[in-house]
Amino acid sequence: MTVDLADADYDLGSYSNFMHKEIWEQPESVRRTLLGRLDERFGTARLGGINMNARALRAIRRVKFIGCGSAYYAGQIGANLVEEWSRLPADAEPASELRYRNPVVEEDTLYVAVSQSGETADTLAAVQELRRKGGQVIGAVNTVGSAIARECGSGVFLHAGPEVSVASTKAYTNMTVCFAMLALSLARVRDLSVSDGSRIVSALDSLPQRISEVLATESAISDVAKEHGGASRMFFIGRVRGWPVAREGAQKLKEISYVHAEAYQAGELKHGPLALIDADMPSVVIVPDDELLSKNIGTIEQIKARGGPVIAVTNASLPEGLADSVIEVPHSEPELDPILFTVPLQIFAYHLAHHLGRDIDKPRNLAKSVTVE
Ligand code: AGP
Repeated sequence: MTVDLADADYDLGSYSNFMHKEIWEQPESVRRTLLGRLDERFGTARLGGINMNARALRAIRRVKFIGCGSAYYAGQIGANLVEEWSRLPADAEPASELRYRNPVVEEDTLYVAVSQSGETADTLAAVQELRRKGGQVIGAVNTVGSAIARECGSGVFLHAGPEVSVASTKAYTNMTVCFAMLALSLARVRDLSVSDGSRIVSALDSLPQRISEVLATESAISDVAKEHGGASRMFFIGRVRGWPVAREGAQKLKEISYVHAEAYQAGELKHGPLALIDADMPSVVIVPDDELLSKNIGTIEQIKARGGPVIAVTNASLPEGLADSVIEVPHSEPELDPILFTVPLQIFAYHLAHHLGRDIDKPRNLAKSVTVE
């Protein structure tokens, strides 16, 4: 499939910066990446670019996502989905680490190199090292013709359209959507039933609509961001599905607002970081309405008991007064919550940075594409 890119992609239109524009483009960019790839009849996804038939997909014994920064966090969501649906062991690793280790490269592992630009030096070097050792590497890349896309030879293009803002939004979301499709295709040649596959296909198909519903709550999210705009440090707390969401939320906030934002796994708080909680340290807690809801409510209570303000990001109905602020997220299938929950955090970071008068599209010390070591 080819995608026509218009000059309009580089035109701000009525937006005052590209990050805001790209956040709002997400329903359309997700629609584009899903186009022609979902198979409703068989409850699966087809990623033609990876060039693998059912037998080749079945031969894979492990999946490893590699990328840097937000691409690595997106990979963590991908690894969780692969493991949950196909029961294959899967994980994610920063390419900047892998390239300097001496990784054990197994021939039945599928390596997925993740990159918006396709030019990130550490990711490219990791791909070259893996290929040199006989590893099977596919790309998940936004930029057609880029160095990583060429080096991988096969893979999945993200079809997010050009992303200008240094802070990745629509490309990040499209990475996670592509990984959901990859995970689904791996699971459907194993033990995932056609009915479970169809449930996921239909949830993916309605993701653009769910994202539009999040965007419609922008002014409420902006109010919460302004309310906490005086904080110089924040925690982002998540557990299991919420953990990569917390990491990406912290990443977005730190890179464009310069507020010190640290992500932590909920269960690890009591092993040290609780000491940092006080009235000046708000915690953004990711609370999906899933089997871990009561555990996450417990985490909020722990933070509140130590005087820390809590912003809950949730699709559950929480007890009245539990959190100081609530950012509401629509319901989807629970496995897709990590994809949807990131969008309000992009909006939160955007408005907090805007409130502080930051240069949103060109944050200090950062480049869009990191082509140096
Ligand atoms: C994302 O907001 C960051 N600007 C950064 O972490 C980025 O994701 C990373 O540098 C990787 O870039 P790539 O996707 O172009 O490889």
